Amino acid sequence: MLSFEDDLPTHPVFRPAVPRAPAVEMPAKAPQQERLRRIRAEDKRVINGATDVNQLVPFKYKWAWEKYLASCANHWMPQEINMQRDIELWKSPHGLTADERRIVTRNLGFFVTADSLAANNIVLGTYRQITAPECRQYLLRQAFEEAIHTHAYQYIVESLGLDEAEIFNAYHEIESIRAKDEFLIPFIDTLTDPSFQTGTPEDDQRLLKSLIVFACLMEGLFFYVGFVQILALGRQNKMTGAAEQYQYILRDESMHCNFGIDLINQIKLENPRIWTAEFRTELVALFRRAVELEYQYAEDTMPRGVLGLNAAMFKEYLRFIANRRAQQIGLDVLYPGAENPFPWMSEMLDLKKERNFFETRVIEYQTGGALSWE
Ligand SMILES: [Fe+2]
Ligand SMILES: [Fe+2]
Repeated sequence: MLSFEDDLPTHPVFRPAVPRAPAVEMPAKAPQQERLRRIRAEDKRVINGATDVNQLVPFKYKWAWEKYLASCANHWMPQEINMQRDIELWKSPHGLTADERRIVTRNLGFFVTADSLAANNIVLGTYRQITAPECRQYLLRQAFEEAIHTHAYQYIVESLGLDEAEIFNAYHEIESIRAKDEFLIPFIDTLTDPSFQTGTPEDDQRLLKSLIVFACLMEGLFFYVGFVQILALGRQNKMTGAAEQYQYILRDESMHCNFGIDLINQIKLENPRIWTAEFRTELVALFRRAVELEYQYAEDTMPRGVLGLNAAMFKEYLRFIANRRAQQIGLDVLYPGAENPFPWMSEMLDLKKERNFFETRVIEYQTGGALSWE
């Protein structure tokens, strides 16, 4: 909550995280005893916390602060990436096959609005429910990165001279894209409803479910067919500027997903009563539905084999990723035996090792902090 509390408890209590007063309204003449009361790290909670959200330190959730620092060290901007070769290839009548062009336009059709949904979900929803300032600090950085991603997709659309109305309306007009967004929107609506607040087991479960859908199924699953496709084009020396943009986005999204999983697991740890068998059953159904939807998207974007990829490979890949996400939050494996048909994807995250892979970027912000995939 944003208000300075009249009587901070020694032990945390469950309270709604919705702000009662703007953060700037610090009592001008608080009693001396109140002014001297100081935050203890052990009293902090990720949700329903009663400590002052304006005081970043003392740290309790160091994993959140470390991810914030690593994300800042990985800063990048879309205009730094040279798109000239992509423009020439796209405009050349024989530069790409019809199937390759379909992959590019379907990809952008999903992503140009997906990251705006993600940003709105954070800014208008998740942020106000989270009472740990270290986690809020990361979410602020994440929200900016979502803006950079929307910018990157727009920049590709503009560079290639694509039909903006067609691409930006794809989430209304292309069934396989619309189906994914229709799956997500109820969970985003839960968090962005101004009247929603945590504080009861049912509402805490609703928050946790939305966080799981967002981190594990949206950022952690729905992005991956698109990422593989564009990065596969780049590996064949096609659309290398777009592929480099996607490579940076993939690195950011991997961090978002990992942060989300840490957040989910911390909420579980602090609120074990909400992790019921019934709740887990509901989650498993959502995971299975998300795999189906992303597979339908793979089939739609790739009706025939292209770039050495085909839809069947994506079925296996999605099962592999879903297993990984399920295990990361403490659910059982959903698809035993599924293997990763694209092991090269892990290399795509290591931009220090691969920094000259596409040889187009003019500025390097990386100052430290290596990432590893899974
Ligand atoms: Fe994003
Ligand atoms: Fe993200």
